[in-house]
Amino acid sequence: MASNQTSQPVELLLSVTRGGRMRLGAQIEDQLRCAIRKGAAKPGTRIPSTRDLARQIGVSRHVVVEAYAQLATEGYLSLRQGAPPRVSDALSVTGETHGSRPSSPPAPRFDFRPSMPDVSAFPRTAWLRAMREAITTIPDADLQYGDPAGVEALQSSLSSYLGRVRGVVADPARVVVTSGYTQSLALVCRALAARGSSRVAFEDPTDTEYPQIASRAGLEPVSVPVDDDGLQVDRLARTGAEAVVVTPAHQHPTGAVLSGERRAALLRWLREHDAVAIEDDYDAEYRYDRGAIGSLQGLEPDRVVYAGSASKTLAPALRLGWLVLPPRLLESVRQEKMRADHGSARIQQRALASFLERGDLDRHLRRMRARYRTRRDLLVDELARAIPGATVRGIAAGLHLTVELPAHYDEPTLLAEAAARRVAFNTMRDYRTDADPSPPLLMLGYGQISESSIHAGVREIAEAINAATSPRTGGARPGATTGGGAR
Ligand SMILES: Cc1ncc(COP(=O)(O)O)c(C=O)c1O
Repeated sequence: MASNQTSQPVELLLSVTRGGRMRLGAQIEDQLRCAIRKGAAKPGTRIPSTRDLARQIGVSRHVVVEAYAQLATEGYLSLRQGAPPRVSDALSVTGETHGSRPSSPPAPRFDFRPSMPDVSAFPRTAWLRAMREAITTIPDADLQYGDPAGVEALQSSLSSYLGRVRGVVADPARVVVTSGYTQSLALVCRALAARGSSRVAFEDPTDTEYPQIASRAGLEPVSVPVDDDGLQVDRLARTGAEAVVVTPAHQHPTGAVLSGERRAALLRWLREHDAVAIEDDYDAEYRYDRGAIGSLQGLEPDRVVYAGSASKTLAPALRLGWLVLPPRLLESVRQEKMRADHGSARIQQRALASFLERGDLDRHLRRMRARYRTRRDLLVDELARAIPGATVRGIAAGLHLTVELPAHYDEPTLLAEAAARRVAFNTMRDYRTDADPSPPLLMLGYGQISESSIHAGVREIAEAINAATSPRTGGARPGATTGGGAR
């Protein structure tokens, strides 16, 4: 046992700011990580209990529980039921001196985090060929800043690719190349605010980062709930929003598809309110058991902004995304892109153009679809075997599925148990801004977990669920419940 373990928790100067860019939990994680790396909290040191820290900094206990669970997953903290939380003994922290690089956290043993593609399959050879071609053929004039909307060759290859694969109506002149969806959303929100819009609706649940982007752009984000048919369009009218951000092909994160009826209602709402929809088509390329669902933009190109990204199909590191804009927003988004960074990297844009033209993306996606499908099938089978009481949903598309557990599992305990086993996954609560009383809903990604790890990883999850079942909460052990199955 480390010599600096004391019976009293170490005093830590932590604080959080509300209304800022970062989630409260992320702020706690950052500051604790930093304190541990700098040696301010040494291996083995007892840290404040979740209850004490929550009281100290004025946040709900759940926020601290989640932050601790994340740090345990990363290997910084050791969390054991019935024992006080400590800085992990296994860490070898020498203290971070000024100017040294922060050490990267240890990877989870089983990584089921959603939204992560398998970057080990990045098509390096084909991309290298595309980059070589771009560098060899780029005219000197194109090494200047150029049009902030993007390189013409890429605008044109995206236009035909999106038309062919997603049914997007994309005149090349309406395409603006960005550094990913995150930037795309910021640019469109700023353009909407500049045109006098004040309110934008987001699906609930959603990635909580996105409404924050709208706030920073000067818009008020409002939430509209999602059910099995996707966005509840009838609730939109009551929000007074002038724009809505939607994931119609595969709702993020629930996996619901916007039903035909709701699509029609959404188009009606757009026309009646002269409103704009921002269609986040983040993973539409991955379909397993049903045909592709065409883009919403294809049905109403003058009111729908189409937003795509290379993050799920190739790699987030490329930082490449694209927008197809209605005429009313085109020039203002182009101006916003100019103000943001004078345009995205032009050599990479040419490389992507050549990658698309050669059919390399189609080839890569064919390979990845097969790989992800195999992983999904394995994951569904293993879940049915190890946690038969659970209901698995959202399996038809994308890179993750959801697992509904019986209500009596205490989520913070379950997260701590999973973190102690270094199993990483998200829960639906990560995507909600309000306190959500619903039963635990696990979000398991199969993008980056290898086939050989799925069996052992699911077993660890089942054990975490078992360990989280205390007599006090009266929970059943996985497998002891009936019903469930995959949908
Ligand atoms: C819902 C959703 N949309 C879009 C993206 C892509 O974002 P970006 O292009 O900024 O990497 C992600 C990435 O995880 C996502 O989860």
